[in-house]
Amino acid sequence: ATERTLSIIKPDAVSKNVIGEIYTRFEKAGLKIVAAKMIHLSQEKAEGFYAEHKERPFFGALTGFMTSGPVMVQVLEGENAIAVNRDLMGATNPKEAEAGTIRADFAESIDANAAHGSDSAESAEREVAYFFGADEICPRG
Ligand code: CMP
Repeated sequence: ATERTLSIIKPDAVSKNVIGEIYTRFEKAGLKIVAAKMIHLSQEKAEGFYAEHKERPFFGALTGFMTSGPVMVQVLEGENAIAVNRDLMGATNPKEAEAGTIRADFAESIDANAAHGSDSAESAEREVAYFFGADEICPRG
């Protein structure tokens, strides 16, 4: 089915100047960018986004990293978009990510891991709405 998923290009990848290379991977995999914005997240916005991880030991490092520089946030639309995006990214820990994936190619560590993608239909719905109003999303057929 056609799905939408939320993607974030994290501060490490923005700083490496590889937004375009990552967008090309989305496009070559058949995903369409239907909304996008660059933002420098506030601590509050980052903590709200990652609220499900609040009790995890890495929460402080994660939100500190995500507010360390601008991120590029986009909505990707396509057939099985959630799984396709996760396959493109590779494993959360870049050391475990398969060769040729975004994290294997661009990421250094489990926090600075280049990209985020929604992990389920439920989180995609919440995460898209966390960043974009319905009037900011442009279906492209
Ligand atoms: P992300 O997909 O953005 O979702 C939560 C993030 O927490 C994850 O990518 C990692 O960057 C970060 N993280 C740090 N340590 C861990 C861990 N042990 N397990 C899962 N995620 C972690």
